[in-house]
Amino acid sequence: MSSKNIVAVIDYGSQYTQLIVRRVRELGFLAELYALEDLHEIIEPGAVILSGGPKSTSDADAPDIDFEWLKSLNVPVLGVCYGMQLLTLKHGGTVRSSNKREYGPADLIPEVCEGLYKDMSPSSQVWMSHSDTVDVLPENCSVIARNSEGVPVSLQWSDRMYGIQFHPEVTHSHEGRTILRNFLALAENLLPFNIGDFKRDLIADIKAKVGDRQVVCGVSGGVDSTVLAVLLKEAEVNVRCIFVDNGLLRKNEAEEVVKNFEAMGVEIEKVDAAERFLTALAGEGDPEKKRRIIGNIFLDVFWDAVGDADMLAQGTLYPDVIESASNAKSKASVIKTHHNRVERVLELQAQGKVIEPLAFLFKDEVRELGATMGIDREILLRHPFPGPGLAVRCPGEVTEDRLEIIRNCDAIFIGTLRKWGWYDKCWQSYAGLIPVKTVGVKGDERSYEWATNLRAIVSEDAMTAEWVQLPYDLLREASNRILNEVSGINRVLYDISTKPPASIEWE
Ligand code: XMP
Repeated sequence: MSSKNIVAVIDYGSQYTQLIVRRVRELGFLAELYALEDLHEIIEPGAVILSGGPKSTSDADAPDIDFEWLKSLNVPVLGVCYGMQLLTLKHGGTVRSSNKREYGPADLIPEVCEGLYKDMSPSSQVWMSHSDTVDVLPENCSVIARNSEGVPVSLQWSDRMYGIQFHPEVTHSHEGRTILRNFLALAENLLPFNIGDFKRDLIADIKAKVGDRQVVCGVSGGVDSTVLAVLLKEAEVNVRCIFVDNGLLRKNEAEEVVKNFEAMGVEIEKVDAAERFLTALAGEGDPEKKRRIIGNIFLDVFWDAVGDADMLAQGTLYPDVIESASNAKSKASVIKTHHNRVERVLELQAQGKVIEPLAFLFKDEVRELGATMGIDREILLRHPFPGPGLAVRCPGEVTEDRLEIIRNCDAIFIGTLRKWGWYDKCWQSYAGLIPVKTVGVKGDERSYEWATNLRAIVSEDAMTAEWVQLPYDLLREASNRILNEVSGINRVLYDISTKPPASIEWE
């Protein structure tokens, strides 16, 4: 994609960086993320945003910016958190390092009513996440906002450069969207972003990359791979869609997936590989090793099924890329290895044999794209389900018995959410297994059985999550049914952990 007139977001490694891209697109403009090594690709952008990041500007390996180049672009520049500290240094100011992190809400009190702070409240909440602070202000800058203690949290330099200490891209910054909109209004000729145009570009890009090669596309029935399969069909490339039943699926899921694809007129080949996965997982309790085993077998199964395929298509999304951090576009630290980022995929990627057409889209955008292709709403609104399936909801060893228990608990919980009209209000929900046996009484007998954890969250693209305040009566109904109907469970827990620090899945 050409960078002319787009908003170039430079990645300094904050976990929120991709959200900046997302917000800019929500405001209707084309944005793309660039790693520092790829700055040469940025030619005539319409605006530049320097993201936040985990480093201190005083670290020996602190990421830098070619300031002369940045100025020569002559477009509006916004430094966010680390980005602002870097701009401060470049303008001759100093930054003070600290071991103490300011993490959480703060008040933003703008000192001006124009530019970045047009149409803003006199005071609003913003989200801070930083250790370093600006110490000595550069001479040629003005303070345009402070916090409630009078500390400068936003600077402006004369040459259309701005800095903000907080993160406007997270929803906890209540007027963050207005600030970004104001910033973008300073730019000229920004290219618009809309999903219809994006689809046309995606299809042209797929055609160009694939040519007449044979593509294998793994489908799971989830939103991402379904949208990908339909997109490949629309691109009229030579594709075989493989659906692997890995034995880690939910109750009746395999049958439903086959039925849904039939209804959409997309041909899929089902491969029954449950035994292969479960045998390979036997005795393994380490979460990362489990993920690698699953990822590698996935690929083995694909290539076994379609020996002569030249390319692999994956429904990887932006958030997957961030969390595995194995993509050159992201500097965020590794949280866990997603199954579609295992070494073999990376090797294939290096050989130019992987296409990931959705890798720059967020979940909601993929849903929007799916809707433009006529995919059923029910499928598009399905909660995300992880590639490694129930394995990540079964801490420790994965066995058939444990999976069966999870399936039964999950079906009851999801059924209850649907019945009470709460399924669509949750971003993701499931039941998992806590492999700890506790004592209980069932009938007149002592029981010694596992516990299940129910999880229901709302989220912004899985990067942060809040647990849902489900009605007690709904929880009571789900719990009673699970305790009565699922053998092997005598305790039901509702997970009230936010992400961070917890993650959505248990592994
Ligand atoms: P966590 O547990 O990291 O999950 O908060 C974030 C989101 O990603 C999903 N997830 C995965 N999806 N392959 C996937 O396709 C994976 O390996 C994987 N691991 C987690 C998870 O369900 C949640 O929506």
